[in-house]
This record gives sequence, structure tokens and C-alpha cells, in this order.
Amino acid sequence: MNREYLSEFDERDGYLNFASVGPPSLSARAVAGELLDEVALGDQSAIQIVGPAYQKARGEIADALGVEDGMATSVPSTSAGIMQIAFGLIGSGGNVVVPASEFPANRYPWLRAESVGGPEVRAVEIADGRVDPDALVDAIDGDTRLVAVSLVDYMTGFRVDVDAIAEMAGDALVLVDGIQGLGAVEAGLGSADIFVAGGQKWLRAGFSAGVMAVAPRVFDRLEPTLTGWWGVEDGYTFEVPPPHPAPATADRFLEGSPNLPGAVAAAAALGVVDVGGINEVEAAVLERSGAVLDLVRSLDAEVIAPWRSDRERAGIVTFRLPGLPATEAVDSLASAGFVVSERNGWIRVSPHATTPMRVIEAFGMALRDQVRKA
Ligand SMILES: Cc1ncc(COP(=O)(O)O)c(C=O)c1O
Repeated sequence: MNREYLSEFDERDGYLNFASVGPPSLSARAVAGELLDEVALGDQSAIQIVGPAYQKARGEIADALGVEDGMATSVPSTSAGIMQIAFGLIGSGGNVVVPASEFPANRYPWLRAESVGGPEVRAVEIADGRVDPDALVDAIDGDTRLVAVSLVDYMTGFRVDVDAIAEMAGDALVLVDGIQGLGAVEAGLGSADIFVAGGQKWLRAGFSAGVMAVAPRVFDRLEPTLTGWWGVEDGYTFEVPPPHPAPATADRFLEGSPNLPGAVAAAAALGVVDVGGINEVEAAVLERSGAVLDLVRSLDAEVIAPWRSDRERAGIVTFRLPGLPATEAVDSLASAGFVVSERNGWIRVSPHATTPMRVIEAFGMALRDQVRKA
């Protein structure tokens, strides 16, 4: 990775937990603080500061996600963006198809909306961890309104082929929860209809710094049910009583004042990805997760590996070791200076492009030690 990209980060070497939270870049931290510093001065109406800052950030987010200005917005979390879509489908009837194994952020919104009259939720069991058209096709019919998948699965690390899912979905909308990919691998709206991702993981934007991009047809398919006063035309025209019309932009999904420090941090973090170059970042992430894969296999670990090529994986490697309970292993690895996660009785390791290769070697030795002692 180039020096300019690497100089943005200052996490400890042994941090191998980007699928949980990605320590934010210097730029993301700086711009969020600077915006508040400027507001704190009280030199002018805050709205004159944050309004233009938001417009600029929103434009940069749109650009990075491959959509026109106006077709992207900021969201406080992945869940908040998905909630907007799920509740927007209330009244449309039909069903929503989602893998049963999705992270709960991509399960709750559909269930909550269903419980108040939204589409029926069809949760599809995926036996082999391969979220591909074959796995979902039987659940989809003429009444399917939307198919929701993660770009990269939080548990298995499987990376979906969004084009293939979109083709199979036919007329149904496709929503991609991109949080486990954005900032690590090529990601954007592409052939999906909705792309939503929190900024707290691989993007390294910090918390409350999520992004959402939509395709124009989304505006025809769902109501901006949860929209509030920031999500309408002429919100500041107080003499006209609500409701005001929804704009033909993704800002129709704003409930109230946007999370401005988060929006500028997300834009800055996307800029940092550009500094590294997404192809270079992706290659570095795959090299490092590939090295983790090799080393755990050399220890006879049981690995969750549903992919058939590097195109079907990203930065996550999940495994377990015979005779070594995952929680114990995670705790002892922490004592040895390595931060990883336990998930469902498995050990999940997730290095980023900033992880030095020597750290992965040292991690391998620490793990070998654990196995020997077990
Ligand atoms: C696939 C996936 N989606 C979403 C989230 C987080 O959702 P939110 O940004 O709403 O907290 C996570 C992890 O925390 C995740 O792994």
C-alpha cells in the first residue's frame, strides 16, 4: 500500500478485527471534529456551515458509490437505512426474500415492517453458505418486492455476486448491505437498487457515518414512510404546513437533521480509500486474509470457506480448532496482543490492508502456541 494511505491509520499492529469495528482514519476523525469546532465558534448561523458541508459530503458519497449527486445520502447505521426501505414497502403487499443467516441488521427491519403490515418475510436457509442465485431462486416469485443480501457475509466471509443476484431477482428490487465490503473490496450501487453500509467497519469512517445509494426506480416502488422534515421539499418553508412533497433525491430518506459529523467523516473515509486505490486495497486485503487462511489450515483448523475463488471472498476468515474453545482462544490471543472476535463458537479473524504481513506471521505463532497448550 502507498505511504499516503498507510499514514492515515494508527491502530495497534495486532488489531485483526475489522469485521467488528475498523479503527477510523486520521482524516475521518479530523473532519468530523473540525466541523463541530466551526459550529462551536458561533460566528454565524450553524446551518450556514453545516448545510454546504453536508451538500459537499453527499456529493462525494454519491460519486464514490457510483451514482449521480442526489442519489446518495448519509445514514446513522446500516439498520437505519434498511429500516427506511422496509417501512417504505408497507402497503405494497408481496414478499421480501432474505437469507436466514444474515446479520440481524438485515433481518430486524423486514420483521418489524412485516409486523405492521409490510411484505411477508421469506427467510431462506442457506445450507452451504453460498448466497447465490441457486440458493434464493425458489423463494422468489411474481410477488417478490425485494431481495436483500450482504455484499460480504459477517460470519462466512462469502462475497456475493451482486450482478447475478440482480439478474435472478427479475423485477424485484435488490438491496445490498455493504458494510462488510465497503472500504475493503470494490463496492457501490452497481446493479443493485439500494446499497447501504455503516461506516464503522472496513470503511474506517467511525460511528454514525453510514452511506446509502439508490436507483431511480426505488422512488416509484416505495413510500418514504419514515421521512421527516429534512426529507421533504422546502422543509424550511414553515408557513406551508406539512406534509410537504418528497424530493426526487435520496434525501427523502432522512427523518430529521442528518448526522453531519458522520456524513463528512464518511466522505473523508471514502477519499482515503481513493488515495490507496480500491484495487490495491482489495488485493492487499485478499493477500492478508489468504495468509490467515493458509496458516489456520496448516494448524488443521476447521474453516468456513464457501467460496470457489478469490472473487467470492474478502477480508473475513472464520475457523475453529479442535479442543480449543473459541472464547478461550480469543481471550488468550488478546493477552498476546491480537484482537479478534468470537462468533457463534468460531474464531473470526479480519485483517485490513494496513495489517503488516509480519503481524499475520506472529499471529500464526501465537495460535500455534494455543494449539500446543490445548
Ligand atoms: C452484515 C452486517 N450488517 C450490518 C452490521 C451492523 O449494522 P449497524 O450499522 O446497523 O449497526 C453488521 C455488524 O455489526 C454486519 O456484519
